[in-house]
Amino acid sequence: MANVTVIGAQWGDEGKGKIIDWLSNRAEMVVRFQGGNNAGHTIVVGDKTYKLSLLPSGVVQGKRSIIGNGVVVDPWSLLDEIARVGAAGLAVTPSLLVLAENACLVLPLHRELDAMREEAAAQKIGTTKRGIGPAYEDKVGRRALRAIDLKDLASLPAKIEKLSAHHNVLRRGFGHAEVDAAALLASLKEVAPKLAPFIGSSWRELHGAKLAGKRVLFEGAQAVLLDIDHGTYPFVTSSNTVAGQAAAGAGVSPRDIGTVLGIVKSYTTRVGEGPFPTEQKNEVGEKLGERGHEFGTVTGRKRRCGWFDAVLVRQTCITGGVDGIALTKLDVLDGFKQIKVCTSYRLDGQMLDYLPADATQQARLEPVYETLDGWSETTAGARSWAQLPANAIKYVRRVEELIGAPVALLSTSPDRDDTIMVRDPFV
Ligand code: IMP
Repeated sequence: MANVTVIGAQWGDEGKGKIIDWLSNRAEMVVRFQGGNNAGHTIVVGDKTYKLSLLPSGVVQGKRSIIGNGVVVDPWSLLDEIARVGAAGLAVTPSLLVLAENACLVLPLHRELDAMREEAAAQKIGTTKRGIGPAYEDKVGRRALRAIDLKDLASLPAKIEKLSAHHNVLRRGFGHAEVDAAALLASLKEVAPKLAPFIGSSWRELHGAKLAGKRVLFEGAQAVLLDIDHGTYPFVTSSNTVAGQAAAGAGVSPRDIGTVLGIVKSYTTRVGEGPFPTEQKNEVGEKLGERGHEFGTVTGRKRRCGWFDAVLVRQTCITGGVDGIALTKLDVLDGFKQIKVCTSYRLDGQMLDYLPADATQQARLEPVYETLDGWSETTAGARSWAQLPANAIKYVRRVEELIGAPVALLSTSPDRDDTIMVRDPFV
């Protein structure tokens, strides 16, 4: 199988949506393998803009799309999204979308717990409050409801009771009312028949695709620095976001995830709390944010902005399993006289070429920068190397050198066609 797995290589929001959309044009099946509706992709096709959250980007191209078992699925949110894209002219039917039967569900009680914790915490994580963390906790705690349960309504009351017993203890601790089990059952019964036609087997679909020699695109959400193991813990999301998760979260062999493409923004952003060594709380950060339209797709929050951090991306290419990168939003750097790139950190008089695992050390890192000359010309909309200013090419080459991974794609605007392919990830 000539497959491709796409992951974010910074803190998310690297512009995965556009690259995934571009690649899904060339794939025959598209699969989400982790995360939930905390993710947000904006896809621009001609004069239409689609905001996707749970739906794999393949739906926009009419490609068979799978929400894999590694995803946590909020049934109400999924149905809303299907209705929303339906109103924009995109019919998501069971012949287009499969929801893995063994995917765990995000319920209102998860969203409520997420919000209660964020509001009560002295040190907030800055979650999207979509209930993602609590849903994964219940999955690992072996008390979650799964998509398949929506096909066996008679089994729901006992499962809800088991889950409620756990949550009621937590809710009492927060001074919150207990779970209304009857209301939850009623609302699950309402959505169950709407979702049932989509429920199927991720691994069998993918095995069939493999036998038929189909090209599959595995679509990651969030990014390696938000990975539960490899990210800036505890300021992370609750799933593994590295490429290896594509296998576990969809039900395929690790050998079948194909080429791993890491999406990398030409500078750095982060939403939510947590360390960010190259953050620019000044006019540079403001300019990057304004020019890059750095507001969250899901929550609308303003993103924190800073210079490119090559130390981090070098590390995420290693831990994420990245073969090559897609460099995005180069045009946001147009017009900067000088551009800084972080090449190492200073910590207590020592130089580090990696991100230490300790959160307090991470917060104390001093970035060491290399300064490159900027360019005054525009790179926006460039579709070939020949259209790029010499200093922009130098910047890209220096990034490749510092992170130890080649640039396979270069994206120069949100438009699907403004993409320079250096190496075909599907080959
Ligand atoms: P959660 O995934 O909602 O639990 O949030 C945990 C952390 O991950 C917070 O810092 C969020 O801002 C961040 N996060 C979750 N999803 C995304 C995303 O799609 N893009 C960027 N950050 C995200």
